[in-house]
Amino acid sequence: MKPELKKSNKPTKGHRIYVVKAFKQIPEDAFSKEELDYVKAQMKASRKQIAVNHFGHFSFIVTVEEKKTHALSLEACRVAGNALLATLNAQSIEEIQLIDAAGLPAETLALLEGMVLGSYQFLKYRSKKEKEANSLKLISVHSKVVSDKELQLLSTVAEGVYRSRDLVNEPVSFLNAPQYAKEVQQLGKEAGFKVEVFNKAKIESLKMGGLLAVNQGSVDPPVFVVMEHKPKNAVNKQPYVFVGKGVVYDTGGISLKPNDGMMTMKCDMAGAAAVAGAMYAIARAGLPVWVVGITPATDNRPHGNSVVPGDVITISDGTTVEVLNTDAEGRLILSDALVYAKKYKPRFVVDLATLTGAAARAIGRFGIVAMSNTVEEFELLKHCGNTVHERLVEFPLWDEYADMLKSDVADIKNIGGLIAGANTAGKFLEHFTDYPWVHLDIAGPAFVESPDSYRGKGGTGTGVRLLFEFIRSKAEL
Ligand code: BES
Ligand code: ZN
Ligand code: ZN
Repeated sequence: MKPELKKSNKPTKGHRIYVVKAFKQIPEDAFSKEELDYVKAQMKASRKQIAVNHFGHFSFIVTVEEKKTHALSLEACRVAGNALLATLNAQSIEEIQLIDAAGLPAETLALLEGMVLGSYQFLKYRSKKEKEANSLKLISVHSKVVSDKELQLLSTVAEGVYRSRDLVNEPVSFLNAPQYAKEVQQLGKEAGFKVEVFNKAKIESLKMGGLLAVNQGSVDPPVFVVMEHKPKNAVNKQPYVFVGKGVVYDTGGISLKPNDGMMTMKCDMAGAAAVAGAMYAIARAGLPVWVVGITPATDNRPHGNSVVPGDVITISDGTTVEVLNTDAEGRLILSDALVYAKKYKPRFVVDLATLTGAAARAIGRFGIVAMSNTVEEFELLKHCGNTVHERLVEFPLWDEYADMLKSDVADIKNIGGLIAGANTAGKFLEHFTDYPWVHLDIAGPAFVESPDSYRGKGGTGTGVRLLFEFIRSKAEL
């Protein structure tokens, strides 16, 4: 459960955390002389997390680490928050006071964010949920500078991340494409954004040949989910559009994935989940920005009438595509979504997709592979990426990659070859854009098989905080 956050003025006798940079910032009156000597010695020995047992309650002292950049120092605080959380839960602590003892609001908030995001658990399918649930339920923040509004915003964004992770962690046995649409409708209802679900007939009438081709091997119909947050006080006249890959399960189709490659493929709708989670947070925070989310969804499976290597399909803009590998399906469903985005005359489009193993192999779980046809908005997005530590690294979209996508029979083919797999995938998508656009390949960080600090294990919610921060900066809040 997500711990509740509240602001409070007077520290009480209970458990507490002090955030400091130096020993002299620790309030002396809260400790005995012996305790202070102990803390001093521990700090000298560079212990990051120090616990003092007052027999009845604990005091934890977290020393903020100076890193190369301010953003990296804040990331160290998030990681420290998560590490501390493990201690608190191990001690069955339910309530904690977080004390900004040295006037470090950004660091205090980052530590808090690490604790809140690290508190996520996916227990839906556990029969002993109560026993396994974390103990921490309430964090009260003592700070002269951290505002109520900041706490509320942090909690809202965390809720968006939680909801996004839930969607990713749900197996396809529950979350097939129609169920995905239902979940987004529920999110829209709760947060107050509009949700339109196109059914198969509508998708057929729009001639979305990419989405339909991938869906050919499925017993469940595809959906095309459009979300919109259009507040009256929007600062923009042209919307920001987020597009997310919603492959609810990727077996590879007829080009079937080998066992190990398939195990985690319920995560292949993490792009769509990031868009839905971000829309949720943006709408709930009431950010005065017009934002649209577009998420095509289907599973990708072998079946009697599956699309097969060598088939030629037609995307909704008339582009013909030779499908040479049915496992390169994400780009097929995304192409219809990118075409659909044109009708909004968007200010800027960001797509998020667990698109290629090549991106994951190149940089691992530590960041997002990005490609773009634009500069200005991309720079801002990179900046936001550093702020929230969902870092972007730019890969090129050179003309040569387009040459690699030339087909013998159709306009283009859906695979490029053995090299530069992330780039050729990006180049394929670029074909369907006529607006400023960034492609984010989140195959590396979207789903992790071992715990990654406050990002947890399983779905990480990568992209939610990035998109939220980007829109927040547009709203100048
Ligand atoms: N969903 C996968 C990419 C992926 C791999 C995501 C690992 C997360 C972790 C995608 O649909 C895929 O299968 N891509 C192929 C493309 C290839 C056939 C050109 C790949 O990367 O191998
Ligand atoms: Zn695939
Ligand atoms: Zn896929």
